[in-house]
Amino acid sequence: MFGRSINSKKVLLSGVKPTGRPHIGNYFGAMKQFVDLFNTGNYDCYIMVADYHALNFIQNKDEMQESIIDLALDYIAIGLDPKRIVLFKQSDVSAHTELTWIFDTITTMPYLMRAHAFKDAEAKDKEISVGTFNYPMLMAADILLYGTDIVPVGLDQKQHIEYARDTAQKFNTTFAKGQEIFKLPKELIMESVQTVPGTDGRKMSKSYGNTISLFASDDEIRKAVMSIVTDSGTGPDGKPSVPVNVRAIHELFNSALGRDKAHLERLYMDKAGRYKDLKEALVKDAQDFIRPMRERREKLAKDRASIIKILKKGGEQAAKVANAKLAEAKKAIGVSL
Ligand code: ADP
Ligand code: TRP
Repeated sequence: MFGRSINSKKVLLSGVKPTGRPHIGNYFGAMKQFVDLFNTGNYDCYIMVADYHALNFIQNKDEMQESIIDLALDYIAIGLDPKRIVLFKQSDVSAHTELTWIFDTITTMPYLMRAHAFKDAEAKDKEISVGTFNYPMLMAADILLYGTDIVPVGLDQKQHIEYARDTAQKFNTTFAKGQEIFKLPKELIMESVQTVPGTDGRKMSKSYGNTISLFASDDEIRKAVMSIVTDSGTGPDGKPSVPVNVRAIHELFNSALGRDKAHLERLYMDKAGRYKDLKEALVKDAQDFIRPMRERREKLAKDRASIIKILKKGGEQAAKVANAKLAEAKKAIGVSL
């Protein structure tokens, strides 16, 4: 079913670290794109639970296990059909870490020191693990092992895809006279979905505590929406009139519910300046969109064994493709005799 030699579909791969519960920034910035792209029928999709990346953050057995299952449940609940995509965890395919080592040997320290994630950690005076420093190389391996064409991600991951592309090129020139052992991947960042604002107006992020959870209960949704800051918008007359953060989040739910922009335009015109009413409208739309997904997830969560089985099968499928690519790379570097 999968593999570029067998059919003409393009390869889509993405992954998420199983750290913390997903919020609507993750959903609209990354997860929803997987579903939309998958539904086009144009791609062979690999969706990965990046558990080895998460090991930089989660160093507790029970928490790791729960986080992996949680994330798999999330993906399935948002509409990815594990019968039609390869859903797997990174640690089940050892080719990822093996290829990382190969990439390490053709990568310089100054190059990795330019990574935003590393610079941020350094600026905060954080203790930086070698795993964090090397994060982009593991991610390059994740992507390149599958002959990936596109990687749907949020804007903050763009640099990592550039690292993957550079690394593919470096490998191809160093070991294969420029012949394409590793395909050069492209990021896919949806124009309309750049950065989803959080309840405080900054980028929605687990680390800022300004999130609206993707599987939130009706009450949690209400509480989060009511806490959105509303002081920064100005209307055409220069007076504050549009609660920009409320509106930005509302636009996402509006289109996810299949409504057109004009619908929201009218609402914000009719209720201009009435922030409480606008928030109430957002609460309702967010609840209507989230409720069915939350209920599906609750049902799936009752059968943990079947989730484990899905991941195991996905790992086996992924390993077939990844091992073949790794074998090519090992041949090119001269360690296969
Ligand atoms: P967080 O900042 O909450 O820790 P992650 O770094 O785990 O989020 O991001 C996981 C995925 O979700 C990435 O692809 C990222 O680009 C996307 N993402 C996270 N937050 C946002 C946001 N506020 N807007 C758009 N995309 C986002
Ligand atoms: N680094 C990504 C994030 O923080 C997760 C990730 C790991 C990933 N490997 C990947 C994303 C490969 C796309 C492709 O969310």
